[in-house]
Amino acid sequence: MTKRVAIFISGGGSNMLRLIDSMTGDHPARACVVLSNTPTAGGLEKAEARGIPTEVVRHQPFDGDRTAFEHAIEAAISPYAPDIICLAGFMRKLTAGFVDPWRGRMLNIHPSLLPKYRGLRTHARALEAGDRLHGCTVHEVTPALDDGPVLGQAEVRVQDDDTADTLATRVLAREHQLYPAVLARFAAGNMDLLYLPA
Ligand code: GRF
Repeated sequence: MTKRVAIFISGGGSNMLRLIDSMTGDHPARACVVLSNTPTAGGLEKAEARGIPTEVVRHQPFDGDRTAFEHAIEAAISPYAPDIICLAGFMRKLTAGFVDPWRGRMLNIHPSLLPKYRGLRTHARALEAGDRLHGCTVHEVTPALDDGPVLGQAEVRVQDDDTADTLATRVLAREHQLYPAVLARFAAGNMDLLYLPA
């Protein structure tokens, strides 16, 4: 049975795009909806150009009431009957109230080799620490931020002249390889760690 995948974005959606484009042929999943918390997310028109329905649930009207915002998200995606949620640059924290029912069916990509550098500014922090190796992680989402079982990691070598921007660019390219590969395995029920060395 083909798994139905909802993808949550807040921005350009380059990861969302790679995920959509990877779900073809005998891939065990298909994108069923793209949801954004902002109507200006560039990824929305990219999804629509690929024939994927989109939904926007702005967080502002809920004025900090996370539970109400999350109920609105659930109401927006439930008509599409997703089996899996992929967070792809979705910049809103989700509470246990939303995450717990999706436990084991929700993935996120984070631009660091977790457990290093949870949260923001991951590339700058890796440079500040003098790390020679950096990268990205796909993990199952739990209520704790950027936590949860790791399903895949891809390494990126740090270069002497790297800035946060140049490093981010190379990490993003590795995200585009890692996320689709992990989703294909995850949708087929394979939870073995996928590790892509530099
Ligand atoms: C990526 O760097 C991802 O690691 C982080 O947000 C960014 C999303 O970029 N969670 P895009 O919207 O997929 O291009």
